Amino acid sequence: MGNKKTILSGIQATGNLTLGNYLGAIKNWIKMQDEYDCYYMIADLHSLTVRNDPEVLRKRALQVLAIYVAAGLDPDKNTIFLQSHVDAHVKLNWILNCYTYMGELNRMTQFKDKSAKHADNINSGLFTYPVLMAADILVYNADLVPVGEDQRQHLEITRDIAERFNSIYGETFVIPEAFIGEQGARIMGLQDPTAKMSKSATNLNDVIFLNDNPEDIRKKLKKAVTDSENCVHYDKENKPGVSNLMTIYGLLEEKTMQEIEKEFVGKGYGDFKSAVAEAIVKKLQPLQQKYCELLENPKELKTIYEKGAKKAADRADPIVKDVYQKVGLIVNE
Ligand code: TRP
Repeated sequence: MGNKKTILSGIQATGNLTLGNYLGAIKNWIKMQDEYDCYYMIADLHSLTVRNDPEVLRKRALQVLAIYVAAGLDPDKNTIFLQSHVDAHVKLNWILNCYTYMGELNRMTQFKDKSAKHADNINSGLFTYPVLMAADILVYNADLVPVGEDQRQHLEITRDIAERFNSIYGETFVIPEAFIGEQGARIMGLQDPTAKMSKSATNLNDVIFLNDNPEDIRKKLKKAVTDSENCVHYDKENKPGVSNLMTIYGLLEEKTMQEIEKEFVGKGYGDFKSAVAEAIVKKLQPLQQKYCELLENPKELKTIYEKGAKKAADRADPIVKDVYQKVGLIVNE
């Protein structure tokens, strides 16, 4: 630890993780594990803002944990845990609720989108979702929060809440910064390359799931939307489909857009798409194997999340105590 900067991030336990989650988030986290003090959680409490089958939710939470580890996050180097296992999150969440304005939450575009999508269940958890997210971050005094572009507004409100609290009670929280990678942050859908690849997409051909088999991956790539130019060239505006596939290929093969353009000079989309499919298959096969091994070994997963929860609580509990003291609660030592 020493003077390493602290990182916190998380992914919800709703739905199967996608290639977008891997390339946009987890792959970048792995690069950070030596340089930073990293906290990676499974945001299972956030998942409750939509209705779930309880058994499915429990299963999904373990699957996300298994993906983290299978993808290369080392449980000895990082603190990997379930959000619901660290009480400090919900304690701070309540306090921060009392320092967040309805008007601020009303401006959140994700709330508007999600309430349009779940018109039958616009619960107050969905509304205060960003406050729990602020608690997740501030309870570790995280310096940096790697997130996708879609979470930028939630980071802004976290900073506002932290600054507000600090200005009333004195220096308490570190003001966190969003850490948004250049390319990885936004992998788009294969069918609609103008919208983010989403694990809740209704058209399954739009999404590569991390547990898709090679045949499905090849099929989905064949069907991916491109354009009529038949020329592999990066142009996000005019060729969003091809540009997205190039981004995926570039991240997997560590190639620049120029290198990819050169590689496919004189070749058509058919060749290009099958190269992208094979790059995905090559990357996912070892990950899937490790993932299956972990899921068959629940004891190992339990050891990982128990250790993670303890390490997380050791860091978060004193911060909550400090906050309780500052706002005027009697701290029970
Ligand atoms: N809201 C995030 C998402 O859907 C998940 C999340 C919850 C998160 N708590 C967080 C991300 C704290 C970063 C930090 O992607």
